[in-house]
Amino acid sequence: MADSKIFLSESEMPQAWYNIQPDLPAPLMPPLNPATGEPLVPEDLLPLFPMSLIEQEMGMERWVDIPDEVLRIYKLWRPSPLHRAFALEEELGTPARIYYKNESVSPAGSHKPNTAVAQAYYNKQDGVTRIATETGAGQWGSALALACSLFDIECQVYMVRISYDQKPYRRLMMETWGAQCLPSPSNQTEAGRRILARDPDSPGSLGLAISEAVEDAASREDTKYSLGSVLNHVLMHQTITGLEIKKQLAIAGDKLDVLCGCVGGGSNFAGFCFPFVKDKLDGQDIRFVGAEPRACPKLTRAQYRYDFGDNAQLTPLLKMHTLGHSFIPPPIHAGGLRYHGDAPLLSLLVDQKLVEARAYYQNEVFEAAVTFARTEGHLPAPETAHAIKCGIDEALRCKETGKEECIVIGYSGHGHFDLASYDAYLRGQLEDVDLPQETIDEAMKDVPDITWPR
Ligand SMILES: Cc1ncc(COP(=O)(O)O)c(C=O)c1O
Repeated sequence: MADSKIFLSESEMPQAWYNIQPDLPAPLMPPLNPATGEPLVPEDLLPLFPMSLIEQEMGMERWVDIPDEVLRIYKLWRPSPLHRAFALEEELGTPARIYYKNESVSPAGSHKPNTAVAQAYYNKQDGVTRIATETGAGQWGSALALACSLFDIECQVYMVRISYDQKPYRRLMMETWGAQCLPSPSNQTEAGRRILARDPDSPGSLGLAISEAVEDAASREDTKYSLGSVLNHVLMHQTITGLEIKKQLAIAGDKLDVLCGCVGGGSNFAGFCFPFVKDKLDGQDIRFVGAEPRACPKLTRAQYRYDFGDNAQLTPLLKMHTLGHSFIPPPIHAGGLRYHGDAPLLSLLVDQKLVEARAYYQNEVFEAAVTFARTEGHLPAPETAHAIKCGIDEALRCKETGKEECIVIGYSGHGHFDLASYDAYLRGQLEDVDLPQETIDEAMKDVPDITWPR
């Protein structure tokens, strides 16, 4: 019988991140300066990011060496295992071979430290002493709190109110690593106060929390901003996962047919699949399927156009799939998937039909999570459960067609701090939210009418 887990030794860990930009099948539209409507120049981003990260954001080098200090910290949990899900295969009665790449083994419990550690490192090199950020589910906030504590940097986290209330243990984790965590909308910023004046009970959104963190960073000399998803350099840091999968599948003597991942801002999914995109462009028959909530369906129902990354229109304009920067998604439990837009790099691949997308209701997602927990043992984050649902659907398709495909699920994080959502599911109290078209149309009215090139 084949191995249940495929490990790499630390010396086999990839030593460089993969930058997909030189291999894109179509040009990536530039981010635009909202004040001038012109493409951003590096200096525009300096109030928010250190120059080294801005260079990575715009860089065209295919491979970027991972600094030794970052590799040393990665080794606290990397390389992460690739599991073969034998028990799940048996339960489903599928001829497919199902694998899952387990990013939940990081100290923060998800893929997010892959970029948090890199970003903290470059900020430290630049002399930055304080970083502000937002967090949805709390996974990103925990990851950055961890990374900042390892580099002795102060960390301020704006946590989306609904998650702040649902997940006190995430906040405690951040505080244990020395970060300060506030519920968003907060009274700390103009953007937060504006929303609170209109709706004191606002559940918040990632778009709003981003506005708060960006405002915080832009208004203080000692502070830079850090984003856990969407941006090109963040997606690049995550490619270490896909690069490891490539090596691990080779050890298993297998070849990828379908890769399933969940999509919030797109970073874990991009990390898993970007290293395989060139293979697809070169003619290999590989499918990439992104899974998102029906309550926040930016890949399946949104337009591909320029929009702000945040609620208060502080960020550059990015060409992406967007439900509108003023869209506040219904309060589903997968907090990390409640973002109105998607990474420009991933959006481009979806637009080019290289990546497929699919949307699910909460209850079917949790049903898949429970099936997974009762077979493979691991209890996934609600975000990750979308990827599992997608993987199970693909395996059931193989059962129908008799195809013996190789399916890899991106297991982006564990759900040990998400048990309240399991409680709601197990008691039949989870609502399935259908998003009316009028809600999307309403939010899209606020999206600026910009095309590039003009
Ligand atoms: C476990 C987990 N998976 C996925 C996501 C979605 O983010 P992204 O699409 O950037 O990977 C999050 C976001 O917080 C998360 O915590």
